Amino acid sequence: MSKPKVLSTRPLFPEARKILDANCDIEYWVAPERPRAELLRRAAGKEGLICLLTEKVNQELLDAAPNLRVAATVSVGYDNIDVEACTRRKVVATNTPGVLDDTTADFAWTLIMAIGRRLVEGDAWMRSGTWPGWDLDQLIGGDIWGKTLGILGFGRIGRGVARRAQGFNMRILYSDAVRAPAEVEKELHAEFVDRDTLFRQADFVSVHVPLMPETRHLISKENLWKMKPTAYLVNTSRGPVVDEAALAEALENKKIAGAALDVFENEPKAHPALLPRKDVILTPHIASASIDTRTKMAVMAANNVVAFFEGRRPPNAINADALGLK
Ligand code: GLV
Repeated sequence: MSKPKVLSTRPLFPEARKILDANCDIEYWVAPERPRAELLRRAAGKEGLICLLTEKVNQELLDAAPNLRVAATVSVGYDNIDVEACTRRKVVATNTPGVLDDTTADFAWTLIMAIGRRLVEGDAWMRSGTWPGWDLDQLIGGDIWGKTLGILGFGRIGRGVARRAQGFNMRILYSDAVRAPAEVEKELHAEFVDRDTLFRQADFVSVHVPLMPETRHLISKENLWKMKPTAYLVNTSRGPVVDEAALAEALENKKIAGAALDVFENEPKAHPALLPRKDVILTPHIASASIDTRTKMAVMAANNVVAFFEGRRPPNAINADALGLK
């Protein structure tokens, strides 16, 4: 029996390649750049696709790849996939939930600590060779321990961030469309509050919501200006959740003390007004970038594709219910 034709837009990792090589007629796209037109050309005739969050699986791609049956994004966020269009075309869409929660929560904490304690500024000062030696008022930051952490979005990653806060003796506030079960609140010592309270009371606001029409520009001028002038914003979710122009304005007006962003409204660019600011840390969308986690994500995507072609329900099918998959 012939194997299903699958395009992977990346060479992935050996563990994932082993699975795909054994089960698919797989093309790995190895190139320094991947123009959209070339993606559409390579996807034509394929029955499976493994792609990244930077690659849109939309009507245009579905039209270019009429044989496509399964599209697997190597990411937990799937705002790159037009799920409705996939469902209409009976294409199963899959993502990689669960395996990156702890690594991403670790990184949110990396940013919380780095922005609060001015790590990047300190590093730059040392490298410049201009540090004159210890003094009492140098690089004064904000404390983390004992402060209030506000978690926007209390899913797996948001809860992981709360779990890590326990050792810092923090007050933990969270807001979410759905209140967490009482035992989770108790275990994590987390208080459910409305967003307004969270913005007003948190010393660190850490964002963990998916990108949806309701969360686009959730970090708006209005909400930023509610924050304490000593508070910090950390975003490891999706860039468009933050209105970057409004953030630059809030920082310029000292409405908040700083921000650490791993994701950007218009990746790969950050808003130009943020670039020269010392009260901002910018990292290139690396929250899940540990070798273990990225390998697990690639393996998960490979397993989803293989499950589909073996006639099984892919374990992480986003539109399984809409497609009536058993
Ligand atoms: C990364 O941003 C992901 O969604 O996995």
